[in-house]
Amino acid sequence: MTLRLGVNVDHVATLRNARGEAYPDPLEAARMAIAAGADGITIHLREDRRHIRDSDVFLVRAGIDKPLNFEMAATTEMLNIALEAMPNACCIVPEKRTEVTTEGGLDVVSQQNSLRPIVARLRHAGIRVSLFIDPEPAQLIASAEIGADIVELHTGAFGHSKPGELARLQAAARQCSALRLECHAGHGLNFANVAPIASIPEVMELNIGHFIIAQAIFDGLPAVVQQMKALMQAARK
Ligand code: PXP
Repeated sequence: MTLRLGVNVDHVATLRNARGEAYPDPLEAARMAIAAGADGITIHLREDRRHIRDSDVFLVRAGIDKPLNFEMAATTEMLNIALEAMPNACCIVPEKRTEVTTEGGLDVVSQQNSLRPIVARLRHAGIRVSLFIDPEPAQLIASAEIGADIVELHTGAFGHSKPGELARLQAAARQCSALRLECHAGHGLNFANVAPIASIPEVMELNIGHFIIAQAIFDGLPAVVQQMKALMQAARK
């Protein structure tokens, strides 16, 4: 099975917004990442619009020829934007106003009743639904039960070298197969730590943002995307 790379361009928008200018343009970055080998683009429209803005969602949606993965909180506002923009996939993430990034996975177990209708609305519209969860058996079971197509396993703790985390991710990926959930992974991945995650056979997509955009300052975006894909492919062999 091939392993896809989704490039998250949120932090191109972070840099743009820092000066209130029109550049750097997240759509230009998305196109450049695709030209360099990205298999899809991810953007996260946060409630506070700190990076991606509503207009970016529609511009990126219309301006790329690879799948768009739209990260969103489970709110009515975001559901309506997703249904209007019609990305290929929506990844539902937990969102706290004060966090600097998505700190942990979604608690699907305790939020099943509120998540189920959102998952159903998106799927009914033809949008694939992913849930961003920690690699915990109960969260995987609940994700399957409420009808998700995909789970994205949170690799943040692995990225911080938490002992035992790789084994937990490997076990969760195996559980995805048993539950017929497509398995993705992401958060905190970089050149140094991507190989063990890329080598998990059930993982079909990695979503990587902050490192790719940060390293692009030094190496250029195409070179970083190409190197990340090469590392992923080498780990997969
Ligand atoms: N996947 C999800 C669901 C995320 O929320 C994020 C962060 O926006 C990422 C992947 C990418 O994480 P990073 O920016 O650390 O590569």
